[in-house]
Amino acid sequence: MHSTTHTGVDAAVNIRAWDSIASRDQTHGQPQDPPPDIAWTPWPGRGPGAELLGDLVGKSVAEMGCGTGEHVGYTALHGARLAIGIDASLRRLTQARARFGHLPATDWHLGDAAAVLTTLPILDVCYSIFGALWYADPAQLLPAVAGRLRAGGRLVFSVNAPRQGELSGRRVDNLTSTGGARLPVIHYAFDAADWSALLVAHGFRPVEVQPVSGPHTSPHHTLVVSARRAPLSAGPGPLGRPTRESMPPMVERRSAAG
Ligand SMILES: C[S@@+](CC[C@H](N)C(=O)[O-])C[C@H]1O[C@@H](n2cnc3c(N)ncnc32)[C@H](O)[C@@H]1O
Repeated sequence: MHSTTHTGVDAAVNIRAWDSIASRDQTHGQPQDPPPDIAWTPWPGRGPGAELLGDLVGKSVAEMGCGTGEHVGYTALHGARLAIGIDASLRRLTQARARFGHLPATDWHLGDAAAVLTTLPILDVCYSIFGALWYADPAQLLPAVAGRLRAGGRLVFSVNAPRQGELSGRRVDNLTSTGGARLPVIHYAFDAADWSALLVAHGFRPVEVQPVSGPHTSPHHTLVVSARRAPLSAGPGPLGRPTRESMPPMVERRSAAG
């Protein structure tokens, strides 16, 4: 896989895009109620829901790349002791706080997720919905997540798999803003086997990857990935990378919607 680090460039390019999108978005100024469930895919009704986060009561939970904050609001409303939202875009984080900052457990942090995580208390759950684990180099971010999650803690995230014929890895894409401007962003696309290998190498197991297909007109499919932070004594992790042969088998489920 890749070994070069691009963290500063990725963050600068992506912050510019998300600040620009947020600045055209006037819909997020008022306190709101959180949504009734967590959607991991861009397609309403497809894929799993909030059950992937487990029982949230009394837990410390952080979303990496929280955008406008609805999932942070959801975890606060469902009993999290600490519902943290991290985002690299000041404009997005300001909108998130305006919408869901009235919920007492919420706590908002501006910055690149890998850097912010090092400043947080130990977490029970870390998650990302097309957030930092889609837009930041996992070779930088996964060690930070592993360092902040308690043993047995959950990491859950959604990303797209590479499209048919595309190679895995870092790529530049364009987001189209409501005004029609095309904004470059950098993201990381891996298939299920690559994600499983990356997670095991960084001290997570077991790993479960649930592929969810979009409508037949969509060229994308989403991977919803769930993993547990392995206890430090559980074998190869950040300090002893396993070979593919030594890895436990990845669990791959077909989604009902797929
Ligand atoms: C596609 S939006 C998703 C927002 C939210 N998770 C949702 O589902 O609505 C991506 C968000 O991730 C943030 N982001 C991208 N890279 C990040 C990073 N390295 N650290 C923290 N936030 C990041 C962006 O600023 C943006 O708000």
